[in-house]
Amino acid sequence: MLIRKPSDIPGSEITSEETYRHRRAFMVAGAGLIAVAALGLPKLLGGTTTPGTGEKLGTLKKSSFSTSEPSNSFKEISTYNNFYEFGTSKEDPARNAHTLRPRPWTLKIEGECLKPRTFSIDDLLKLAPLEERIYRMRCVEGWSMVIPWVGYPLKALLDLVQPKSTAAFVEFSTLMDPKQMPGQASRALNWPYKEGLRLDEANHPLCILGLGLYGQTLPNQNGAPVRLVVPWKYGFKGAKSIVNIRLVKSMPRTAWNDANPSEYGFYSNVNPGVDHPRWSQATERRIGEFKKRPTQMFNGYGDQVAALYAGLDLKRNF
Ligand code: MTE
Repeated sequence: MLIRKPSDIPGSEITSEETYRHRRAFMVAGAGLIAVAALGLPKLLGGTTTPGTGEKLGTLKKSSFSTSEPSNSFKEISTYNNFYEFGTSKEDPARNAHTLRPRPWTLKIEGECLKPRTFSIDDLLKLAPLEERIYRMRCVEGWSMVIPWVGYPLKALLDLVQPKSTAAFVEFSTLMDPKQMPGQASRALNWPYKEGLRLDEANHPLCILGLGLYGQTLPNQNGAPVRLVVPWKYGFKGAKSIVNIRLVKSMPRTAWNDANPSEYGFYSNVNPGVDHPRWSQATERRIGEFKKRPTQMFNGYGDQVAALYAGLDLKRNF
């Protein structure tokens, strides 16, 4: 990230409007609060949970994969975003993504599969029981959030197209339409935004097709109407506003790896032991908090996913 920023300051060190306002509230609240915050008590500064403006998604299945950590507020989740198709600062997507039209929408799945198929967004919303998945999300820039996603395992969708035995990887592509996504007129990245996973990663039960958050359809700035959510990897793996999924034989190219291969690898597993060339990955700042917290291997999902990487040198395959 941040290739186009003038300095090497990671995003976690840059004060957003939201954080700035939290800091002001914090300062006026006085010394008592400061003592409490210094203890690291969560969510005093995170604001309340305000509902979004999306469509309600009905009854959601609970998941044992959800964390019991408190979620960030809807406001935090929907106003501090990375979505370069709408600008490169954190506040740009909330301001600019109103030009995206998330309906009608189709998602085509093709490549190494027996039954390639195109799904409408209504098909996707009905295809499997919708679950609430409250996940820790860690951005490579050094900040994190807890997000109550709505979705279901990506595997439920991939199984329908019957991947061939030759399919080893999955490539995800975002919509390409500079009218709806004005940032695509710039050269910030090679458009359309692309990401990829190994097929076994894509089939892992933690990997979900994201269709909503806080019980409602996704806000445009969070990748409406359909995105990828992979909680043990850095946030940039989660391609937003996806229109194409392609099953392929070899490792696909990805937008950030193309932009800067020495900084953004294909795997991008959260790993406090492998620093980004310009900053440490050992700690992170949870949005809404001041104190940094240690980053966990695989973002804390190691018990579930470590086996996927048995025998792989994660320093080389970063
Ligand atoms: N997808 C597209 N199409 N374009 C982007 O710029 N940014 C990525 C990822 N998906 C991005 C994207 C990055 S860097 C992050 S951290 C997450 O989206 C942020 O998701 P959020 O804004 O919903 O928290």
